[in-house]
Amino acid sequence: MGTRRNVLLGGADSHQSRKLPGAEIQRPLATVVIGGLISATLLTLLVLPTVYTWLEERWDARQRHHASSALPKGQSETPVAAFGGSSANEYARRQLLYLAESATPEFSVNRQAHWDGLYTTKHPTELSWYQAEPVRSLELLRDAGAGRGTAIIDVGGGDSVFVDAVVNEGLGHVTVLDISGAALTRAKAALGPRASDIRWMEADVTRAELTPHSFDVWHDRAAFHFLTDSEERGQYVERCASALRSGGSLVVATFAADGPTHCSGLEVVRYSLDGLLDEFGDEFALQRGITDVHFTPRGVEQHFTIALFRRR
Ligand SMILES: C[S@@+](CC[C@H](N)C(=O)[O-])C[C@H]1O[C@@H](n2cnc3c(N)ncnc32)[C@H](O)[C@@H]1O
Repeated sequence: MGTRRNVLLGGADSHQSRKLPGAEIQRPLATVVIGGLISATLLTLLVLPTVYTWLEERWDARQRHHASSALPKGQSETPVAAFGGSSANEYARRQLLYLAESATPEFSVNRQAHWDGLYTTKHPTELSWYQAEPVRSLELLRDAGAGRGTAIIDVGGGDSVFVDAVVNEGLGHVTVLDISGAALTRAKAALGPRASDIRWMEADVTRAELTPHSFDVWHDRAAFHFLTDSEERGQYVERCASALRSGGSLVVATFAADGPTHCSGLEVVRYSLDGLLDEFGDEFALQRGITDVHFTPRGVEQHFTIALFRRR
């Protein structure tokens, strides 16, 4: 009982002492609280941002190192600014534009912003579709009987070396059509003075105005499969059939039925030969079909379906 009373008394004593309004107790407490608040504020406003910035710079430096070591031997990374005078900020700006415009019906503008963004920020060898030699395209051009006087249109030609190869091999004169002005600027720069022999058209193929019967060969490597809307595919086929002379050739390369489902962040349609026949078969007769393999610069295997058609 006595012990219990002592405890109770003791409890009462300490309770009393806590209630004492002595400055000895309140001042250190206030110092701790205010000091804690000030140091937490400094940590949030100064120290953490500095640490983050430092970590981010180290991460960027590592990324740049990896990117340049992924390039072919002897080739150094060319500054982004060399391709269209832009920068990573420009890419971010264009992506924002792309997202903002996604809500508008002018889809062509969004598309153009997307492709321009890629062509102003990525080195050619960083693009998954890059190929050093357009071997299959040249093979099929020869199958189509292309020669010096052949009028060829490369649809969605981008900055590919197809046009260079056709000029070098004397397989015809080329019009390069692409939705991306940035891609065409790059392709022209790569060709140098010979660029003036080429006709360059910045246009969306589904809306392009092409002179009827003006081409002998329509070449498209990896552009048609981006048309996920059936109405747009119809517009494409209509333009292709109209622009080609009767007996002219269509060379079209798309992702195969077991190929990738997306490219550069965009959804694609994959085709078997039968699938391409469904799209083009009314106006065109199939001459040759190939299943091909493309290796991206990073070594990823992609399956393509390539068809050579003859305009009926
Ligand atoms: C995957 S890249 C292929 C480029 C080139 N044919 C090659 O083999 O390297 C697709 C190209 O199609 C172009 N493109 C996409 N949609 C297009 C459209 N509706 N009209 C014209 N060009 C388009 C892009 O700008 C891009 O250059």
